[in-house]
Amino acid sequence: MPRRALITGGAGFLGSHLCGRLLAAGFEVLCLDNFKTSVEDNIAQLTSARGFTFIHHDITQPFFIEGPVDYVLHFASPASPPDYLRLPIHTMKVGGLGTYHALGLAKGKRATFLLASTSEVYGDPQVSPQPESYWGNVNPVGPRSVYDEAKRYAEAMALAYHRAHGLRVRIPRIFNTYGTRMRLEDGRALPNFMTQALRGEPLTVYGDGRQTRSLCYVSDLVEGIFRLLLADSPEPLVVNLGNPDEVTVLQLAREVLEVTGSGSKIVHRPLPQDDPLVRRPDICKARQILGWAPVVSRRVGLRRVLPYFQKAVREQARTRAEVLA
Ligand SMILES: NC(=O)c1ccc[n+]([C@@H]2O[C@H](COP(=O)([O-])OP(=O)(O)OC[C@H]3O[C@@H](n4cnc5c(N)ncnc54)[C@H](O)[C@@H]3O)[C@@H](O)[C@H]2O)c1
Repeated sequence: MPRRALITGGAGFLGSHLCGRLLAAGFEVLCLDNFKTSVEDNIAQLTSARGFTFIHHDITQPFFIEGPVDYVLHFASPASPPDYLRLPIHTMKVGGLGTYHALGLAKGKRATFLLASTSEVYGDPQVSPQPESYWGNVNPVGPRSVYDEAKRYAEAMALAYHRAHGLRVRIPRIFNTYGTRMRLEDGRALPNFMTQALRGEPLTVYGDGRQTRSLCYVSDLVEGIFRLLLADSPEPLVVNLGNPDEVTVLQLAREVLEVTGSGSKIVHRPLPQDDPLVRRPDICKARQILGWAPVVSRRVGLRRVLPYFQKAVREQARTRAEVLA
């Protein structure tokens, strides 16, 4: 029998890549989503694939799946700052109620549960790089707390299910990832810069741009998640997944100008509240227990993703022109 996996948020940027990876490995995939922050196009190439089923559902509402489920991967959540600032209550509901429903299914089916957590659980870190043992520095009442605290709560709930019910739990703490299928208006630094550079608009850098990020190419991230899902351990595994190659936001803007060949200028805007100043994963644990490390350099990744953004910007411009005509 093929292994059967349910992915909440499976039509999103990461979820859709993960659906493809699991199908390629011979899994049967149930993709659950309500397109709150994604578009159907993301899964267009999967809908006719053998073993793929789409379930249109809001994970904050109870649900049931017939038949066996071996893996539950909980990816549903607004993920970019503009999304979770626009959807603050939904973000908390999907991290709270959504996680509760996904855990309930995993418990009932005796499935392995994997929670897409985030580097944001470290908040604005006082330690760099961030190892999994770091407890973080999160402002519980700041605007970003709806996301950070929802993910911290979700991690705590997953561990409670492990301790109370012996559930097998996997928690990747995902650091900034980029790749095809990111929305142009996603709001994170890379899609912002790509879109602005390709439109010939100024690139917006918040603050002086000396804050750092580390960007992981999507195929590397998906490989790490796949290995973590299948890791052979009854113990809960909490593992950073990301690329430790740190870059300042200003340097990233310059690299995007170079790769796109754009003549856009860089402009500075005030730093948003609680924006983390450093972000770099310590990936020793992933190397040790998964034998995993990213293999796609930023130089290669930016070139690889460029045609996607070029096409998306062209199509958006055409649609706008048609609307105005
Ligand atoms: N992309 C990253 O760099 C990154 C970094 C850290 C963590 N993560 C985590 O990975 C997951 C996916 O992120 P992404 O970048 O693919 O974001 P995304 O917005 O593209 O995907 C999230 C998906 O969840 C769906 N969703 C939201 N609310 C839902 C609900 N109530 N019911 C069903 N579906 C719902 C959305 O429609 C979307 O398809 C998130 O949990 C996010 O916190 C992502």
